[in-house]
Amino acid sequence: MTQPAAADGAVIAALGAYVPSRRMTNADWGQYVDTSDEWIRSRTGIEERRMAADDESTATLATRAAERCLAAGKFPADRIRWVLVSTDTPEMWNPATACFVQAAIGAVNAVALDVTGGCAGFVAALGLAEARARLGDPVLLIGCELLSKAMDWSDRSTAVLFGDGAGAALVLPGSEAEGLAVTSLIAGTDGRDADILGKPYGGTKNPLTAELVAAGHHHKIVMHGQYVFRNAVVHMTDAAHEALGRAGLTLADIAWVVPHQANQRILDAVAERLKVEAVKVYSNVARFANTGSASIGIALVEAIQRGLIEQGQRLLTVAFGSGFSWAAGVLTCTAVPPVEADLG
Ligand code: UT7
Repeated sequence: MTQPAAADGAVIAALGAYVPSRRMTNADWGQYVDTSDEWIRSRTGIEERRMAADDESTATLATRAAERCLAAGKFPADRIRWVLVSTDTPEMWNPATACFVQAAIGAVNAVALDVTGGCAGFVAALGLAEARARLGDPVLLIGCELLSKAMDWSDRSTAVLFGDGAGAALVLPGSEAEGLAVTSLIAGTDGRDADILGKPYGGTKNPLTAELVAAGHHHKIVMHGQYVFRNAVVHMTDAAHEALGRAGLTLADIAWVVPHQANQRILDAVAERLKVEAVKVYSNVARFANTGSASIGIALVEAIQRGLIEQGQRLLTVAFGSGFSWAAGVLTCTAVPPVEADLG
């Protein structure tokens, strides 16, 4: 999935994001599980997260981010050829969440597909979007998770980590637009570690039964936290180096690292291994927690809204997630892309 830098490659021409308005603090979690603000803050850096309203679903979150992205880019929905939704918390088993988004935004000329790539899914799918954009196809890529309806609220070791949200990117041929040009993109998976993080019940391997539901397994997220932590640090560091190497660049060329927002301790450990100042590693995990494949889109939008991204800068984005998968890319800012979101 690696492409060399090319002036006529692919460009993120606009971005949009959506987070639900309902805030849930660490203290609020005390109503549900035996935990504390101190434990969550010190282990993860998370202070609060957003939770979807009862009438919101994955497709409604994704649609809001998509609409904002297209509005920011002033791009007509009927010119989109591909709607790609990266999510591990789909609208339903079938059809793909992307189909509902396609209908809602009126992308009548688009193929609609989902990617299940864990928290690395957005960056990995950016590689797919890039390949199509290089061939001339406008792509709308959305990372979206609604974990609050897909997790076990009585499991303190997983539930407190997550938040809901969506980030969308309009990916266009480089000949057609400026923005965040995809300079290099790498991705990988080690399926031997598929069981360290995931949601094993409800599929064809472990179909739901009344007994499984009674035991709460329909919501169970399996996570070997410390093993995931170690894997994340190693693979994010290696992936970052690989993406830089493919671009012929070093960390000295990078203005901002925009990583998957899983956990502040992971981000700090990656910064230390990469030998970059932690201040150059963009983080909003304190306010939004881990929003899975939505986190990098949301972080990019927020960094741009805060005026941190400037023309000529290079960004390094890097992610890890279930699979066990990783992905990283170098983005070159040929022009600051327009964004739309209300993340306040
Ligand atoms: O997309 C998902 C990606 N996943 C991640 O990024 C997670 C990576 N892993 C981590 O960040 C850390 O492993 C965690 C934050 C999940 C856990 O931190 P830890 O330092 O590895 O804690 P632990 O799992 O070793 O648990 C230590 C203790 C246990 O109690 P005992 O057995 O020592 O009595 C847990 O039961 O902390 C307990 N614990 C909690 N206590 C208060 C677990 N969750 C909580 C909680 N509040 N929410």
